[in-house]
Amino acid sequence: MDIKKAIAQRHSVRSYTNKKIDGEVKEKLINIIEECNKKSGLNIKLFLNEPKAFDTFMAHYGKFENVNNYIVLIGKKDKGTDEKCGYFGEEIVLKAQMLGLNTCWVALTYGKRKIPYDLKKDEKIYCTIAVGYGKTNGVKSKSKSIKEVVKNDDHMPDWFKDG
Ligand SMILES: Cc1cc2nc3c(=O)[nH]c(=O)nc-3n(C[C@H](O)[C@H](O)[C@H](O)COP(=O)(O)O)c2cc1C
Repeated sequence: MDIKKAIAQRHSVRSYTNKKIDGEVKEKLINIIEECNKKSGLNIKLFLNEPKAFDTFMAHYGKFENVNNYIVLIGKKDKGTDEKCGYFGEEIVLKAQMLGLNTCWVALTYGKRKIPYDLKKDEKIYCTIAVGYGKTNGVKSKSKSIKEVVKNDDHMPDWFKDG
């Protein structure tokens, strides 16, 4: 699967099976995250078989079920770190999709204090991403047409139109 197919196929998933992230898929996911950390200077962490952060009132309120693995986007408290988290987080969710995994971005509805990581003084948790084998592959959300989001579509370069 290439990245464009992953973009088309990926939908958020909130309910997961008990299947563990193991073997080659686990190794590849770890490598993808390490690579993103190297490129970005972020401190992205993967927690496997760790259900506590998504076994909270907020997580159930957000309809999350059986989230046993998640990725935490940690970075310096700098201007621009949030944008980096968006860019590299999306790279991770798309590459996870290519490994046959499902994901969901989660900034609020989980238990931040349950994450087993001690933040350094200059660090902040920007967002998390639930990851695992979904009970379903999710459903396509409504999206806007290009005319609704781009004002001047006469001068779009091909790479932009393609996107
Ligand atoms: C940065 C970010 C943070 C999000 N945080 C939450 C959250 O805390 N709780 C929640 O229920 N959904 C949250 N969402 C929404 C879901 O991740 C998801 O995008 C939404 O269900 C739409 O699904 P789709 O990605 O398949 O279009 C967040 C989305 C993004 C992009």
